[in-house]
Amino acid sequence: MKRMHVVGARPNFPKLAPVHRAARDIGLEQVILHTGQHYDETLSEGFFAELEIPAPALNLEVGSGTHAVQTARVMERIEPVVQKERPDWIVVYGDVNSTLAAALVAAKVRVPVAHVEAGLRSHDRSMPEEINRIVTDRLADLLLTPSRDADAALRAEGEPENEIVFVGNVMIDTLLHALPTARRTGFRERIRANGSRVIVTLHRPSNVDDPGRLVAIMGALREIAEERPVLFPAHPRTASRLAGARIDAGQVRMLSPVSYLEMVNLLEGAHAVITDSGGVQEETTVLGVPCFTVRENTERPITISQGTNQLVPDPARLPELIQSVRQRQPPPAPEGWDGRAGERVVHALLEHSLGAHAT
Ligand code: UD1
Repeated sequence: MKRMHVVGARPNFPKLAPVHRAARDIGLEQVILHTGQHYDETLSEGFFAELEIPAPALNLEVGSGTHAVQTARVMERIEPVVQKERPDWIVVYGDVNSTLAAALVAAKVRVPVAHVEAGLRSHDRSMPEEINRIVTDRLADLLLTPSRDADAALRAEGEPENEIVFVGNVMIDTLLHALPTARRTGFRERIRANGSRVIVTLHRPSNVDDPGRLVAIMGALREIAEERPVLFPAHPRTASRLAGARIDAGQVRMLSPVSYLEMVNLLEGAHAVITDSGGVQEETTVLGVPCFTVRENTERPITISQGTNQLVPDPARLPELIQSVRQRQPPPAPEGWDGRAGERVVHALLEHSLGAHAT
């Protein structure tokens, strides 16, 4: 009885951590496979240590490439490993290229696949992650959902009822677990960013690959930075686009990518957050920090209905919106965003091993 967790990119790691911990606590055999999609220390190794995840037993070192190349490399390299190990379950996380590639291989070599964070939909196929979500869910044998809207989306697509299991949000397990440690990092004090700050994270191709759009976004951020500190830890893709287009950051404080704990420390108590990340929309919902998502849509509609997140497709509106933020009590966290989702994932894996996939 063995579970193989497949991860590859930064947002996968905080999702893996609570599932791995819950399985370890009850003595289950498990192995971590890292595809190597992300390889920079700040995007990868540092996360394992901070999140108390053991170093992966295997690293496929696929690195960067076009979507086809990256996905194909993962498939090519993971197939012999899966055939040799023949785990009971392959557990995949989120919506990155590594998620899709592992699910495709597992489905073809007939190893059951469980998808953690199933059922999220932006209904926007120009977003590569949306393609990854749809195909992964279609192939997966167990669809572990973070919110009730995800259950509904899967039902509407005709997924069998017995494959859909609501487990809640594993990212939030990690956030709640990390909060006290994040406070102890003292990161905010160290970089003198304790006041009423705005935190920015942007890395989606739709925002950073088009120089005109990036110029418009940076213009809005410069304006905000005249009023209050704006801190922008930049993903390597964003940093290279900013440098390539020679865009002036003005008083915006550009930072290298920060660690997970440093990010949590920056987010907690911030005036507001501007992002295009999925995870940050969720984290701000629980932290009660107003979030402005620079996108036309979100696969996490629950963050909108909770009232903590707002879509802002037009960056020119950001200065006025940030200006009018009023701090208020956070709403109660959504159902299942309670720190126990990892345990429910492990429970579902055990239950379903005894059921449909016992042979
Ligand atoms: C990936 C995920 C995205 C996720 C993001 C979080 C897909 C389709 N996208 O996007 O959903 O939100 O991770 O970080 O899987 N690079 C480095 N160092 C690294 C890795 C990448 O410098 O360790 C640079 C390279 O220039 C690379 C570029 O970032 O070409 C893009 O990397 P890639 O893994 O293809 O996608 P992300 O933009 O990171």
